[in-house]
Amino acid sequence: MCDFDIVVPRRGTNSLKWDSRTDLLPLWVADMDFRAPKPVIDAVIDRARHGVYGYTIFPDSYFAAITNWLARRHSWTIQRDWITFSPGVVPALNIAVQTFTQPGDKVIVQPPVYYPFFAAIEENGRRCVANNLVYRDGYYSMDFEDLEEQAHDPRVKLLILCSPHNPVGRVWSRKELERLGQICLDNDIMIVSDEIHCDIVCRGKKHVPIASLSEALAANSITCMSPSKTFNLAGLQTAYAIIPDAKTRDCFAAANKVHRANVFGLEALIAAYNSGEAWLESMLDYVEGNLQFLRDFVSKRMPKVRVVPLEGTYLAWLDCAQVGLDPGELDRLILEKARVWLDDGPIFGPGGAGFQRINLACPRSILEKALERLEEVVRVSLPATCPAHPRNIS
Ligand SMILES: Cc1ncc(COP(=O)(O)O)c(C=O)c1O
Repeated sequence: MCDFDIVVPRRGTNSLKWDSRTDLLPLWVADMDFRAPKPVIDAVIDRARHGVYGYTIFPDSYFAAITNWLARRHSWTIQRDWITFSPGVVPALNIAVQTFTQPGDKVIVQPPVYYPFFAAIEENGRRCVANNLVYRDGYYSMDFEDLEEQAHDPRVKLLILCSPHNPVGRVWSRKELERLGQICLDNDIMIVSDEIHCDIVCRGKKHVPIASLSEALAANSITCMSPSKTFNLAGLQTAYAIIPDAKTRDCFAAANKVHRANVFGLEALIAAYNSGEAWLESMLDYVEGNLQFLRDFVSKRMPKVRVVPLEGTYLAWLDCAQVGLDPGELDRLILEKARVWLDDGPIFGPGGAGFQRINLACPRSILEKALERLEEVVRVSLPATCPAHPRNIS
């Protein structure tokens, strides 16, 4: 038993994941069921004890924590004045769309992709251009020919990159990022790179911040990051945008009306980046163990489901096309019969139908319970003669 095996009851804590539907076992929204690292909890408690929670400034230690982290973990040297606070990455994406495009302009995304990207574009009166990812032989890649073609349209002003990619789990290679970056530079398209999952990469993979590739790409990009996925701090609102170009930064800052940090978020970010690394390494090992557990379970007991190879994020993408159920019916059964809450593929846009996204950042016992319940649903659809299924072996 390790710390990550401990089931921390979250019901009754105003948790989006656990308290929105108390009849379902939730493995959907991307937060973890793990306690944050102890140094973070201690820092928040110490600050809470002080008792006065007035307006904040950003101390030197805030900037040092971020710049040191990026240098250490991602070999990216940034200057402290490139950092602009944002309560969340999603608010930062919205500000970027509002500030650097005009109504009616087009913004490229690469679906299936994190669904608030669509809202940030369309709800701001801009138009979404889908450069769909290619899914071939169980693996996702970018369609550069299509991207080139889309990028030629003079109404395209921005591309929102998801790196690592939620939900397909790719950690984009240097080569892929260089190619995408060059297409954007050639066509005067600004890159807003959502790198919130940058610290959650599988062993053997390396996240490359796109802005670190060249001065030209740094000048043409806004990189959105946060310790929130890494250390489970989403409720503390600790994101930031890294904007090397001074003019772009000034425009962004002028539009960013929420510019002061939450007192607890500030302490949490500093403690997490300065003292949370050992916890992060253990968490990554645990989640990789969960991924292996998922793979073993699926291959033995749900052989028609395919686990798409996971390179980054703690969100596994399940290809359910062979299950033999209409995707809408499968989703209904998962909710109503299995009473498990996953994220249904179509919410991620084109290419999402027939997939489900499952959150692996939970104690293994919760994952096991969810999989056992899902198995019941998937089994219904299996032909009686399927030899690989335990029901048919005995
Ligand atoms: C790719 C991506 N971007 C942004 C977010 C949310 O960011 P925030 O809570 O900082 O707005 C998530 C959360 O799941 C995500 O997966």
